[in-house]
Amino acid sequence: MKSKLIAPSVLAADFANLQRDIEMVNQSDADWFHIDIMDGVFVPNISFGMPVLQAISKHAKKTIDVHLMIIDPDRYIKTFAELGANILTVHYEACTHLHRTLQAIKAEGMQAGVALNPHTPVSLLVDVIKDIDLVCIMSVNPGFGGQSFIENTYKKVTELKKLITENNASTKIEIDGGVTVKNAQQLTAAGADVLVAGSFVFNSENPISTISDLKKVANS
Ligand code: DX5
Ligand code: ZN
Repeated sequence: MKSKLIAPSVLAADFANLQRDIEMVNQSDADWFHIDIMDGVFVPNISFGMPVLQAISKHAKKTIDVHLMIIDPDRYIKTFAELGANILTVHYEACTHLHRTLQAIKAEGMQAGVALNPHTPVSLLVDVIKDIDLVCIMSVNPGFGGQSFIENTYKKVTELKKLITENNASTKIEIDGGVTVKNAQQLTAAGADVLVAGSFVFNSENPISTISDLKKVANS
């Protein structure tokens, strides 16, 4: 079986010790860095922007997975490529011309991701699924770390997996929000490939071993 991936969300890191936390992820069993960019318009919060991503990129030795929670993401596709993003995920709800946006992301040499808010059905992706490298199913309402996992997510993962298989696509399924060792196994069993975890990792006593535990459970 293909190995399931863990992507710690830097939103929950200690920003006063960012380099230390980036090095921790480098040394851990984590696979990707998940970077949350918020504009205070698409979501009711502002996280951090380009200079911080630039600083992270300088130290990160793993795939950089950027989750844009911003309106009109097309404005910044080139900039995020230059800042070192390997995967660029835009929100379905923020794109008027999603097909065009996906092509623009790929033209900059990045993998193209689409995130779905909890209320957005996976069926809306049917006509673009073959163009999407990663679907990020939001398992909380985007904007904040530390929220509780929405149980309806399992059903969405199963539906999305079916959509991917039926269309013979190679899209990965990522889950973002409220992920812990308690739900990791059920998510990967339903078809999730990548688990994002913020507070569960960074608020734990020993983040390195928490990442290992999560990876073991995800692959069990
Ligand atoms: C929420 C962000 C998530 C967040 C997850 O808007 O997209 O990536 O950091 O945090 P936890 O794992 O704490 O729910
Ligand atoms: Zn995220």
